[in-house]
Parts: sequence; structure tokens; C-alpha cells
Amino acid sequence: MKVFEHVSLKSYNTFGLEAKARYFAEITSLEAYLRLCESGKYAHVPHLFLGGGSNILLTKDIDALVLKMDMKGIEVTQETDSHIWVRAGAGVNWHDFVLYTVQHQWSGIENLALIPGTVGAAPMQNIGAYGVEIKDTFDHLEALNLETRILERFDREACEFGYRESYFKHAGKGRYLISSVCFKLAKKAELHTSYGAIQDVLQARGIAQPGIQDVANAVIEIRQSKLPDPKEIGNSGSFFKNPTVSAQEAQRLHTENPTIPSYPVVGSTDVKFPAGWFIEQAGWKGFRDGDAGVHAKQALVLVNYGHATGNQVLALSEKIKQSVRTKFGVSLETEVNIL
Ligand code: EPU
Repeated sequence: MKVFEHVSLKSYNTFGLEAKARYFAEITSLEAYLRLCESGKYAHVPHLFLGGGSNILLTKDIDALVLKMDMKGIEVTQETDSHIWVRAGAGVNWHDFVLYTVQHQWSGIENLALIPGTVGAAPMQNIGAYGVEIKDTFDHLEALNLETRILERFDREACEFGYRESYFKHAGKGRYLISSVCFKLAKKAELHTSYGAIQDVLQARGIAQPGIQDVANAVIEIRQSKLPDPKEIGNSGSFFKNPTVSAQEAQRLHTENPTIPSYPVVGSTDVKFPAGWFIEQAGWKGFRDGDAGVHAKQALVLVNYGHATGNQVLALSEKIKQSVRTKFGVSLETEVNIL
């Protein structure tokens, strides 16, 4: 495994922010990484694992060994009449994986098309979109315990998935390297088309009986119409989480803002509100200060128009939080990891 020094991370984060890694290497196999650990050569710095760099905000140079996950491979591990178990290496591009399953007519993750990032990073925050989260089809993952250097298997329960949450963001934070993820997909389409925008696109295309590919295509169309392509405008998708509040707090918000949209939270009396609505209503949609801005079509997405620094984006996010708190009494929580 070749280790480089003082490497620019600009092309390794979808925000396109400049920051340097003290050391940098690509992990193509677990064995190669274990050999590197055993050499003890880079034991004096922290090891930071990077997937697609699509959920980070770099605010400074990284005094660590940054390891880009590049473990590839997709394989079927088990099959029944109704289901198929498909395992992918942590470094597989998430959207490529979705397309692979769609092409094979395996159903379950088609609503998650075009989400940037890698398979290995997906369980960290239980990626989700258009009514589906990966926890719905997740079977298990394998992760290297960085202390014992033993490969451990985590089933769904062990991952403690929640809305944009998992064990790996809490008690397991910094302790594991996810090396592969296995999904249990359905051979017969089990489609989730109730999300309004999906219905609209299918209807506009005159598709009354959609298949897996149709749903994936609809999702791709919706995302392309609303979300900036990181290759063109730097961004990390939703910068904040959608806030969940108590029923009482929700009542206050509805009374004070009669047009506010909201969603029930399954298994709870709490109510979820779209952060994008608060940000838009607070006047930030399309805002730009230098090269840091708020996307004009989706206020939940902060963007780098070219040469913004991570700290400028961070400062903008703090102003947005403050303004939403003052106007609506709601605290926004950052979804992106600030480094
Ligand atoms: N809205 C506005 N103004 C905006 C944006 C949104 O008023 O500028 C309101 C509208 O009422 C809209 C509602 O918010 O109907 C929901 O908007 P949208 O469908 O775009 O979804 P979201 O709640 O803003 C979440 C995820 C996205 C995911 C979409 C679709 C989070 C933090 N974000 O966004 O995920 O693609 O739903 O399911 O939960 C990501 O995590 O990076 C991401 C893009």
C-alpha cells in the first residue's frame, strides 16, 4: 500500500474544498491495511477513513493518515425463490451498486439511486430518500475492529439504525472500518412509490404500472431537477437533518405557521418538519456570500460555487441555524460531518 504525503483532498470531497492530508493512501484490501498497521509506521497519527467524501465539510488540513476506501466487488451470497442476498465491497460507488441491482431486477434500493458516496459509508448514517432507508433491506455488514483487528459481523439490530443515525456515529464511532455490506433484496418488485414526487413523475411519463427501472428513473429525474451535481457545484447533499419535535411543539409550529408541511414519525407521537421549509421561509434560499451559498432549488443544500473555504460554509450554516432558531424557535442539527 503506497502512502503519499501532503495530499490535496479537493478531489476527494464532494464540496470540492481544499485541505491537505498529512498522509494519504488507498485501501484496496483489508489485508493490505492490516499489514500497514502491523508495520507500526503510521501508528503515531489517527487513521481517518474516507468513502466518497460526500458527507464531510473540511475546515482544516487533516493531521492524520487519510485512507480512501477502495475495496471493490459485488457478489451474490445466498438466494431463495423470493430473495437474493448481495454483498458489495465498502469502496463500491453507491449509485453504481443501485444500478447493478436494478439491472438485475432485484428490488429494494431503487429509491436510493443517485445518492453520492460509497457502499461502506451508507450504513454510517442509514442513507435514505423517497420513503426508503437502507435499514429496510440491510442484512449485515462486516467491519474490522480497529483495536482487536478482528473482523466482526453486525446484523441490523447491532447497527442501531435511526433517521440518519447508526451505532457507527455513536458508541462505535472511530472504532470500526466497514469493509463490506450485504443487502437482502426482493426478486419480485416491492415498490415504494407513495412519495409524492415519484407519483408525479410516473404520471407525467404515463406509466401506470411501474417496474423497478421506472422507479429508479423517476428518482434520478427528481434528484437531477432539485439537487446540484457535485461535479458541477460542490455540495454534500442535505447539510442539516429534518428536525423532529414533540407533539406539543408541533402544535405550536402548526398554529403559528398554518401552511407548514409535516410528517408523522412512525412509532412515536413526535412530528418531523422539513428543514428546507424553515430555511426557505427565513429567506436563505438562493443566498450567496462569496462562493458559499444556499442552493436555489433546495434550501437544505449548502453549496461551494468554486473557491469557498470550509470555514466560510460553516459560518454560513451557523447563521442559518441562528436565524431559524430566532424566527421559528427550532434548532437545526448538522447532518454533515465537520472535520
Ligand atoms: N422544502 C421547502 N423548501 C426547500 C426545500 C424543501 O419548502 O427549499 C419543503 C417542501 O415542503 C418539500 C419538503 O420540504 O415538499 C421536502 O423536500 P424534499 O422532498 O426535497 O426532501 P427533504 O426533506 O428536504 C430529505 C432528505 C434528502 C432526500 C429527500 C427525498 C434529509 C436531511 N434529507 O430532504 O436526502 O433526498 O428527503 O427523500 O432527510 C441527503 O440526505 O443528503 C439528502 C439529499
